[in-house]
Amino acid sequence: MIDVRLASESDGPVLARIDLATWGPAVSPAPPPTAGGRYLFFGDRTKPSDVLVAELDGIVAGWVKVQPASPLTSHAHVREIGGLAVDPAQQGAGVGRRLVEEAVRECSRLGARKVTLRVLGHNVGARRLYKRCGFVPEGVLRGEFLLEGRYVDDVLMACHLVAPVP
Ligand SMILES: CC(C)(COP(=O)(O)OP(=O)(O)OC[C@H]1O[C@@H](n2cnc3c(N)ncnc32)[C@H](O)[C@@H]1OP(=O)(O)O)[C@@H](O)C(=O)NCCC(=O)NCCS
Repeated sequence: MIDVRLASESDGPVLARIDLATWGPAVSPAPPPTAGGRYLFFGDRTKPSDVLVAELDGIVAGWVKVQPASPLTSHAHVREIGGLAVDPAQQGAGVGRRLVEEAVRECSRLGARKVTLRVLGHNVGARRLYKRCGFVPEGVLRGEFLLEGRYVDDVLMACHLVAPVP
């Protein structure tokens, strides 16, 4: 059974472990997040209140981070999925999909009209998951990152909770 709840400070170490276990050029253009060899999941950029945690049969299996897309008042109706990871040992069981669905629901509850994200063009699994959850591509930044000797696209995707103004 999959349960989704808000994160708490004490989830930090397990969420960091899952983040690092899924990190790599297939998933992120940035190097792994370590500070002096130690990675603190929560900090200035990520608060527990920004993160939903999924438990599969009582064991933490993944997380999704959702934040305002920017601090601008004019942008307040848009929220952004800024990270998603499922423990490799627990992938393929529907945890990722449930996390994205719950993230979208939470955005809707908070009054958002639109949820956005960025995904690397070669991250086929994640792109398919987002598509299944109602996200559509809104733009492609061609050759945006040089990863392992290849120029890789960055795909901007969005899920509109309210039909966009024509
Ligand atoms: C992407 C990720 C979150 C998916 O989590 P998951 O729990 O395995 O996903 P689910 O079991 O909920 O699968 C849901 C859907 O995602 C798609 N999907 C997930 N993994 C896939 C893969 N490796 N290949 C193709 N499609 C995949 C499928 O459409 C699947 O639904 P379907 O089987 O009905 O077609 C997980 O693989 C992961 O943590 N990857 C590394 C981190 C990452 O890429 N994060 C996204 C950064 S933008």
